[in-house]
Amino acid sequence: MAPATVPLRPAKASKSAALKGDLAVPGDKSMSHRALMLGGLAAGETRITGLLEGEDVLATARAMQAMGAAIRKDGDSFIINGTGNGCLLAPEAALDFGNSGTGCRLIMGLVAPYDFETRFIGDASLCSRPMARVLDPLRLMGVQVQAEAGDRLPVTLRGPRTPAPISFRVPVASAQVKSAILLAGLNTPGLTTVIEPVPTRDHSERMLQAFGAALETETGADGARTIRLEGRGRLTGQVIDVPCDPSSAAFPLVAALIVQGSDLTLRNVLMNPARTGMILTLQDMGADIEILNRRSTGGEDVADLRVRASELSGVAVPAERAASMIDEYPVLAVAASFARGETVMQGLSELRVKESDRLATMARGLTLNGVDCTEGEDWLSVRGRPDGKGLGAPAADGIVATRLDHRIAMSFLVMGLASEHPVRIDDCALIATSFPGFMAMMNGIGAEMAEL
Ligand code: S3P
Repeated sequence: MAPATVPLRPAKASKSAALKGDLAVPGDKSMSHRALMLGGLAAGETRITGLLEGEDVLATARAMQAMGAAIRKDGDSFIINGTGNGCLLAPEAALDFGNSGTGCRLIMGLVAPYDFETRFIGDASLCSRPMARVLDPLRLMGVQVQAEAGDRLPVTLRGPRTPAPISFRVPVASAQVKSAILLAGLNTPGLTTVIEPVPTRDHSERMLQAFGAALETETGADGARTIRLEGRGRLTGQVIDVPCDPSSAAFPLVAALIVQGSDLTLRNVLMNPARTGMILTLQDMGADIEILNRRSTGGEDVADLRVRASELSGVAVPAERAASMIDEYPVLAVAASFARGETVMQGLSELRVKESDRLATMARGLTLNGVDCTEGEDWLSVRGRPDGKGLGAPAADGIVATRLDHRIAMSFLVMGLASEHPVRIDDCALIATSFPGFMAMMNGIGAEMAEL
């Protein structure tokens, strides 16, 4: 069946006066998915505040409801009554994850040990993304997989009568793969082991422990992490307060750095060390970012960030930092477009399999908007123009193709705020997957951006 055509919603951003104010961006996407999954699975009541109400996360909520979790909203809180570990129900229809790789891949793991069929579908972007990275370890547990060529969606899974625990070394730096295996381990008897040579975000581990799972983590002398989970334990409902998403905060943060005279405070931002690579990199570039009021809530570090417009200089971003800022490279490339000298970003092969091929999509969009950049196999270099002269697209037909990628859309809108000419994108609809209300929030601090 041909996919339904949804009308595009083009948008434009133009050179803006100083951005000022105090913002709390929406809740962290990674934590929101996991809170719904574990709340939906745990016995008893889970209460979540700060949940991201973006399309990606709502797809996860619908999937958990389809498998027996009761989820309702009460004021600012989401209240979940879970099924109890091991007691998910077979969904009656296909689970539609829209644009969300995290929701889809983690729930593939969650249902893997169940002896019923689950069908996974998604939008054109999700259908083009590789699923073998999750399906291969699940096959080792005895899961039957029916998938389109190349292990793409639509995928149907059927778990074995007796799932077997695995010990698996994750071949790519991916929190989604690690988490899918751990979630599969929850309803598998015995010890499931995941070894990650390159540590990635650890929200699954932290939240599993908070819900009562028997999980242990050990870091070896070589930095590799081994995570062991004893399956079929009891999970108990929790109270979770989701802090603001650092990957969403990166957009107003970079906007404030590149728009002259800006002074912005971002409240309650998640500061998990596996997520702060972008802040380190911007500080290396000379960014004035003050980290205020550091505190810990619900087992995660948070802080307020005061950001002032800064003169940025190009840097070499080490490949080892990629996992801690993997979603921030598009907007880092925008910051680099306004920095003195060259910024070289390395170790970016994973960007090719995100919501779009982010290396190609960024390089094309930057070039269209007058930025001098070079795209390599797994790297990107950008030579900036601190005054923004010549950047942007003077002609109305200079429109960035966002390729169903929310972070590409937001990055180019941020770019337009400091460019000499406007920056136009073909579609802003997908921004709602991770940052509903983005344009209105940016307008509220003085940014000139609007739908066309
Ligand atoms: C995520 C992990 C990352 C990241 C994604 C969210 C998660 O993906 O890009 O936006 O919540 O586990 P990979 O695990 O594929 O690197």
